[in-house]
Amino acid sequence: MQYAKISGTGSYLPANRVSNDDLAQKVDTSDEWITARTGIKFRHIAAENEKTSDLAAEAARRALDAAGLNGNEIDLIIVATATPDMQFPSTATIVQQKLGITNGCPAFDVQAVCAGFMYALTTANAYIKSGMAKNALVIGAETFSRIVDWNDRTTCVLFGDGAGAVVLSASDTPGIIHSKLKADGNYLKLLNVPGQIACGKVSGSPYISMDGPGVFKFAVKMLSKIADDVIEEAGYTAAQIDWIVPHQANRRIIESTAKHLGLSMDKVVLTVQDHGNTSAASIPLALDTGIRSGQIKRGQNLLLEGIGGGFAWGAVLLQY
Ligand code: ACO
Repeated sequence: MQYAKISGTGSYLPANRVSNDDLAQKVDTSDEWITARTGIKFRHIAAENEKTSDLAAEAARRALDAAGLNGNEIDLIIVATATPDMQFPSTATIVQQKLGITNGCPAFDVQAVCAGFMYALTTANAYIKSGMAKNALVIGAETFSRIVDWNDRTTCVLFGDGAGAVVLSASDTPGIIHSKLKADGNYLKLLNVPGQIACGKVSGSPYISMDGPGVFKFAVKMLSKIADDVIEEAGYTAAQIDWIVPHQANRRIIESTAKHLGLSMDKVVLTVQDHGNTSAASIPLALDTGIRSGQIKRGQNLLLEGIGGGFAWGAVLLQY
């Protein structure tokens, strides 16, 4: 049986690290409020000349290095992002160019906001299982600082910039064991950025519009359900999960999924305090942090899960 297995991970955070106290100088908020409601303490913000593709390319270089591969051994590039460099071409093709990959491998973006990495990983898994790719570079990269209204305290405290990357390689041993993706477009109003380029103009607000409590309730419910489904459909039990590597939106959402599965917070890779919500980048950033810190070890079972605007959500069970 052909599996897709993680052969290397990498991540990158912009140098500018912004604390809750820094934000409290700009909007009417406090470290106490942000910490109590979200668990976030810091987030990183990209420099003006740093694009999503720059963050993605740096994370990818580190993942390639960890996998012991050079760029031209990659035969598929997928970038999950809701903050691409341009309307087109895809950020993935820009990353391909920045990495000096000249083998002409397919490169495309997926857009599922905070669930983007689950969608990208699942797509790359299908390519590898079907024999269409041997080594896939799967990246989550975002510059959400560019789509938050820095005068809106209800959203600007939540997000950060960053990138995480995984090299997924064909292997005879597991590997991604099971994955599940879901979407429901009826929840568009809970979370969106309505702005678009059309007829020579930018129309609609370019900033995040969010019903925070509505998102919170929906996320808690759907993440518990999809975690149950993936574990059960794979023939596993929650007790066999060594680490949950969740989307890092809010500590309270993460705690509720762990509690639902009957797992303690000691089994959760938690980075929300240091990164904030980096959307599609948050799961691969947490994964790389967990691996490089020595928390996650080869052979362990990981449950990755995330949800975001759309709504779109997904979970992946894999053996590292
Ligand atoms: N600082 C201080 N006060 C604030 C802030 C702030 N940054 N933001 C809002 N408040 C105030 C509100 O104005 C409100 O005041 P009021 O009672 O006088 O009207 C009060 O705090 C409570 O506001 P709520 O929105 O009810 O607060 P809640 O407990 O729901 O927490 C939060 C808000 C943190 C946004 C929470 O709803 C949440 O985390 N939701 C999930 C959102 C999320 O994760 N979005 C990310 C994208 S989707 C994803 O990644 C899953």
